[in-house]
Amino acid sequence: MTMIEWSNELKLGVPAMDAEHRQLLKLTNDFLTAAGEHAPFPRLTHIMGELIARTRIHFQAEETLLDRAAYPGLAGHKAEHGRLLVEAQRLYERFTTLDDTLGPDQDAARALTLEAAQFLQRWLVDHIIADDRPYRPYVLRLT
Ligand SMILES: [Fe+2]
Ligand SMILES: [Fe+2]
Repeated sequence: MTMIEWSNELKLGVPAMDAEHRQLLKLTNDFLTAAGEHAPFPRLTHIMGELIARTRIHFQAEETLLDRAAYPGLAGHKAEHGRLLVEAQRLYERFTTLDDTLGPDQDAARALTLEAAQFLQRWLVDHIIADDRPYRPYVLRLT
């Protein structure tokens, strides 16, 4: 699995958000590493659960900040956060079901791991670049 590297393209220059994005990126890389090492599914499920929990906290913090900054794209941004969480939660629930039926579902489990890895690789990076970057000037004006 290819790790995601922190880059200037991902950096917003908003320290609190950058710190949270880096933390989410680290958890995503933990998942990718574990998936690449064929770690047991409970471990993958655990990392994914942690990632979703931290993401929820990050999204809330970000939305509060965007509200303070009177960001005009806030409603759409919130909706996108909601969509990402629903998708992540669905994947997580499929993982928890697999834990009980690991033996006969080996192929399905591997396929799900790959699907989750691809989703995580794209959701974080794509969301930061496409949806988070545009709020930058509004938030920077706050200080
Ligand atoms: Fe966001
Ligand atoms: Fe964000």
